[in-house]
Amino acid sequence: MNYRLAYAIGFHPWEDLAEHPPFAGKLLELVAREEAGCEPPYGPALDVGTGSAVWGVRLAMRGWRVTGVDIVERALRRARERIDEAGVEMRLVRGDVAALRQADVGSGFRLVLDTGTFHGLSDAGREAMGREVSAIAAPDATVLLDCFAPLRRGPLPRGAGRAAVEAAFSGWTVTDIEVADPEPDALARLLKFDERFYRLRRNGTTA
Ligand SMILES: C[S@@+](CC[C@H](N)C(=O)[O-])C[C@H]1O[C@@H](n2cnc3c(N)ncnc32)[C@H](O)[C@@H]1O
Repeated sequence: MNYRLAYAIGFHPWEDLAEHPPFAGKLLELVAREEAGCEPPYGPALDVGTGSAVWGVRLAMRGWRVTGVDIVERALRRARERIDEAGVEMRLVRGDVAALRQADVGSGFRLVLDTGTFHGLSDAGREAMGREVSAIAAPDATVLLDCFAPLRRGPLPRGAGRAAVEAAFSGWTVTDIEVADPEPDALARLLKFDERFYRLRRNGTTA
């Protein structure tokens, strides 16, 4: 998927999921699980492939200290506008998810959220993202990945199943797989997105 082009022509349908209660509800339910038993501020969160920060802003509003990283400058400009409109604090970094340390995103993230980046990467990109996330995440971090089911969809993300997630995130255990959108729209059904949230914890940590 050519995200530079997509943002340049104003094509960013993934943002609409923030206004789609079945998806938003499921994602925020998973986030709430990471907040349970704690009071805000909940700690540092990294929104990987943040885009225009639709989810990063939600996390910030809930009391996370959020950093968003994306490779597309235009997406980050939209993110800045959204953050300012929302009146929240959120740090933005331009960088590649395959080189998070080089991008200087920081470290010690308790929550790493990816809504739609990992599943579009090459195998090498996925492996690099897994390695980089492992390097910048806190020892007790949770990773949440939103992936289409694996399927060729032309220029759209090819998706990723459990095996691909586990291959990229060695050292992590998939603790949960949840249907991300229980009420997909007609396009999502046609393209068989069949989206899932993968929740990961480091091997040896409690679920
Ligand atoms: C499907 S969009 C999702 C954006 C946002 N997470 C959301 O849900 O609205 C995927 C995002 O990943 C970003 N992206 C793709 N490859 C990337 C890479 N290698 N490094 C950083 N960001 C990347 C794109 O620019 C795009 O904003």
